[in-house]
Amino acid sequence: MSEHFSTQSVHAGEQRPKPYGAITTPIVQTSTYTFTDTASIVEFMQQKAAGQQHRDEYGRYSNPTQRTVEAKIAALEGGETALLFASGMAAITTTMLTLLSSGDHLVFIQDCYRRTREFVGSYLSRWGIESTGIPADQAPNLEQALRPHTRLIFCEMPTNPYLRLIDLEQVAALAHQHGLLCAIDSTFATPINLQPLAHGIDLVLHSATKYLGGHNDLLAGAVVGRRQLLSAIEKGRGVLGGVAGPQEAYLLLRGLKTLDLRVRRQNENAQRVAEFLQEQAGVERVYYPGLPSHPDHELARRLLRGCGGVVSFELRGGHEATSRFVDRLRLPYLGPTLGGVESIAQQQALFISLDPAERRAAGLSDSLVRYAVGIEDAADIIADLEQALEGGKL
Ligand SMILES: Cc1ncc(COP(=O)(O)O)c(C=O)c1O
Repeated sequence: MSEHFSTQSVHAGEQRPKPYGAITTPIVQTSTYTFTDTASIVEFMQQKAAGQQHRDEYGRYSNPTQRTVEAKIAALEGGETALLFASGMAAITTTMLTLLSSGDHLVFIQDCYRRTREFVGSYLSRWGIESTGIPADQAPNLEQALRPHTRLIFCEMPTNPYLRLIDLEQVAALAHQHGLLCAIDSTFATPINLQPLAHGIDLVLHSATKYLGGHNDLLAGAVVGRRQLLSAIEKGRGVLGGVAGPQEAYLLLRGLKTLDLRVRRQNENAQRVAEFLQEQAGVERVYYPGLPSHPDHELARRLLRGCGGVVSFELRGGHEATSRFVDRLRLPYLGPTLGGVESIAQQQALFISLDPAERRAAGLSDSLVRYAVGIEDAADIIADLEQALEGGKL
C-alpha cells in the first residue's frame, strides 16, 4: 500500500543516505558528467542501450536533483515515472510534438490554458497537425469530434477561469475504445485533489510553476505516466532541450515537501471565500466547484478530494468598478499566476487584451475576478474582500 500524501511529499524519491549525510538532496551544479576511462564509457553506453542507465551523462538529459523530483512527482500522482521540464509549456509542447505527426488530429478542451490553445492553433497547424477544440461542457459529446486519424485527446481541469470539470473516466474509456491516448493538464487540481491516472488517463501534465512549486520562485513543468510512453517524450526533451536546471529542481523539491499541507489549506480557504462571496450583494456570480450552484458540483463530489484554491467571481458593475474593487484589495498581490503561498488576484480580462472586443471574443466578462487564494488565514482574506466590496458599496 502506498503511503499517504504528506509522507510521500516529504520522503518519496529521496535517496537514503544522501551524499555527506545531508538531509536535503544536493544541487548538482554541473552541465556534464565525466568518465574515468574508456571502459567506463563503454559500460555506460551498454547500460543505456539496455535501458538500465544508472548515472548521468549530460545536463540536457538528466541531473540527480531533477531525478529525485521526478521520482517524488511520480509517487504523488501514482504513476510509473515522471519527467521534469523547464516550464509547463515546455512539458506540453514537448509532449505534443513527440506524440503527434503530420496528418494526425488532436481533440482538445477549448477552455484550456491559452498558450496551449495558441500552440495547437498557430504552431501544430503549421506542421500539418489538425485539431478540434470542444468546450468543457461538451466533453460528454466528445466522440463526435473524433476522426479516423485522431491520435490524442488533450484535456485540462479544473479549467481557467470557470473551473469546469470533465468526466475523466468517460473520456479515458472513449479514448481507449478508439485506440487513442488521453492526456490531462492537471495543474489546477494537483495530485492532492485528483489523481487522473487512477481514472484511466494516460498522461498527466503540470505547470509545476504553480501548486507543485508553491512559492512563486521557479518555473517548471512535469509529465507523468507509463515508462514506455514517457521514454519517447524523454528523447524529445533531450532533443528540444526544455529541461529544468538543478537550481529549479532543488526549489521544486523543497516546495513539494509541503504540497499536501498547502493544498489542503488552499482548498479550505477557497471554499470559505466562495461561500462568503456568494452571500454578498455586490457579487453577481461565484464560480467554484465546491458550491452547489456550480454546474459541475456533482462531478466535483465524485472526482475531487478538494476543489482547489481558485475562486472566480463576477461583480455587479462594469470594467472600471471591477478595477476599483481589485485596487482596494490589500492582501493579495495583483498578477497572472496562482498556486503559491501568497494570494493573487486579477481582473482576468485585463491580462487578455486592452481591447474590449477581443475580451468579448475570448468570452470573458470585464467584471470577472480570478482570486487564487494562498495559505493566509481565511478570516483575513475574507475581511479584506469585505472592505474592498463595502468601500465601493458594491
Ligand atoms: C493550466 C496551465 N497549464 C500550463 C501553464 C503553463 O505553465 P508555465 O507558465 O509553467 O509554462 C499554465 C500557466 O499559467 C497554466 O495555468
